[in-house]
Amino acid sequence: MRDYKIAPSILSADFARLGEEVVNVLAAGTDMVHFDVMDNHYVPNLTIGPLVCEALRKHGVKAEIDVHLMVKPVDRLVPDFAKAGASWITFHPEASEHVDRTLQVIRDSGCKSGLVFNPATPLDYLKYVIDKVDLVLLMSVNPGFGGQSFIASAIPKLREARKIIDESGRQIRLEIDGGVKVDNIREIAAAGADTFVAGSAIFSAGKATDPNRYDTVVKALRAELAKVKV
Ligand code: DX5
Ligand code: ZN
Repeated sequence: MRDYKIAPSILSADFARLGEEVVNVLAAGTDMVHFDVMDNHYVPNLTIGPLVCEALRKHGVKAEIDVHLMVKPVDRLVPDFAKAGASWITFHPEASEHVDRTLQVIRDSGCKSGLVFNPATPLDYLKYVIDKVDLVLLMSVNPGFGGQSFIASAIPKLREARKIIDESGRQIRLEIDGGVKVDNIREIAAAGADTFVAGSAIFSAGKATDPNRYDTVVKALRAELAKVKV
């Protein structure tokens, strides 16, 4: 079995109680915090910035923070997120004028770097910069909102990305983001993903008053992953 990681997207958390939500979702057995940054320019929505990342660190969050930048331009924000405690920083190649440089800026800031591919973006960029990439993130929805349906063409694209990564012989994680649920995570993992972002599937589970509300859904996701034969 691959080293699977579940990354709850805090986009669907209760922002009024964010610190507590993150502590609870990690205590339920998730691995890293997926932190969606939107600028109302690259995507039609506006979310959170480095101050909130720093606030989570100050709240005592020790898990890796996976910062998904849906912003344009990209480079200026990278050092701010690195200082705020980001572990991974990913961006969309369409949002950067100089993709190779942005990847280098991320690594120079001490973070692990990742490229994000929208549903209709080909994987071609990877060929030229694979030596500067620690993670490949495939979008299985159009970026901007939580709670959308998984776009089926992400499955063959995952297989394609898995092949490129394996042939490179490099240690590169393959993450999927958008519409991941208990009923499709197994097929997604079988196609080659090892890191699973899940927002609405986790944060809308159970009763809001129950502090253990996330345990059941995280166990169900893990049980599906345990069935995968790769
Ligand atoms: C969408 C974000 C996702 C989103 C996923 O632009 O990148 O991380 O929160 O939400 P779900 O899991 O609800 O599709
Ligand atoms: Zn995301």
